[in-house]
Amino acid sequence: MKLDELKKIKEDGLSQANSASSSEDIEKIRLSYLSKKGLIPKVMSEIRNVPIEEKAEFGQTINSFKIELNEIIKTKQKKTTSKNNNNSFDLTLPGQWKKLGTGHPITQVTERINSIFKQIGFSIAEGPDIESVYNNFDALNTPADHPSRDEQDTFYLNNKDLLRCHTSPVQVRYMKDNKPPIRIISPGRCYRRDTPDATHSASFHQIEGLYVDNNVSLADLKGTISYFAKELMGATVKTRFRPHYFPFTEPSFEVDFMHPTNGWIEILGAGLVDPNVFSNVGYDSNNISGFAFGMGVERIAMILYGIKDIRNLYENDSRFLNQF
Ligand code: PHE
Repeated sequence: MKLDELKKIKEDGLSQANSASSSEDIEKIRLSYLSKKGLIPKVMSEIRNVPIEEKAEFGQTINSFKIELNEIIKTKQKKTTSKNNNNSFDLTLPGQWKKLGTGHPITQVTERINSIFKQIGFSIAEGPDIESVYNNFDALNTPADHPSRDEQDTFYLNNKDLLRCHTSPVQVRYMKDNKPPIRIISPGRCYRRDTPDATHSASFHQIEGLYVDNNVSLADLKGTISYFAKELMGATVKTRFRPHYFPFTEPSFEVDFMHPTNGWIEILGAGLVDPNVFSNVGYDSNNISGFAFGMGVERIAMILYGIKDIRNLYENDSRFLNQF
């Protein structure tokens, strides 16, 4: 072999080694150059055939080739084994943090209330945000001169439909489509022409409840609401029924819960379904009876979490939402 040839082989070998990255490639290079049957020992054994005037430089070249190649292969071997070796995992490095989202407080409270009622056999029924005047008012025994029908209070659309001002029209829809016994709750969004402040919003959420069967009495309503109060706020919570007026229930009540820190707080409207509502959906009001209730989700969320301003719930500020 000529010196020039050797120089070319050396250059190739070193550049191959330098660009190898996988442990398999490095091993291949080691085998083909450095192993017993590899190229370097073979060239070394043939030094005696090199012409005398080239011998010294030839010897130096092959020696330095061997040393340099060895060096490169050793460092590369170290690097690839440490990459594959689990023991090199540094436990003190910060972990990978996956940001997990949570439900919005309104969603969380809605789900909690849903599940409390599901446990006693209620199922969920939903209705649309855009309602007919009939379902929202007339069918619910709400006369034409009732203040909530005023344009100052309800959002009317051009086609005379409206944005429902409560979830009660779902009572009408559900009773029209189903026969008793009925046990439903209906969560959803409602709208009123309210000027936003700390406790009012033009769009908010309610949960409606409806129970219809034979011989449903005020005792059933009281038992159900008292169970709900205890599940929501704890076993020691008391409930108080104050007489009130709703067009679609008779008698009607506002119900307060005794909150451990806030005292008596108004939580829901309720009553026995007015016979006129039963007639409007085609039920025989002499043989059928029921109770209904409705509550504001924001209000309950504010009480449970100590939120002072309803607007916090709509601003999507992650510093606020991250607390829930
Ligand atoms: N719909 C009533 C409201 O929005 C609440 C209610 C529902 C009252 C069902 C009685 C029965 O204030």
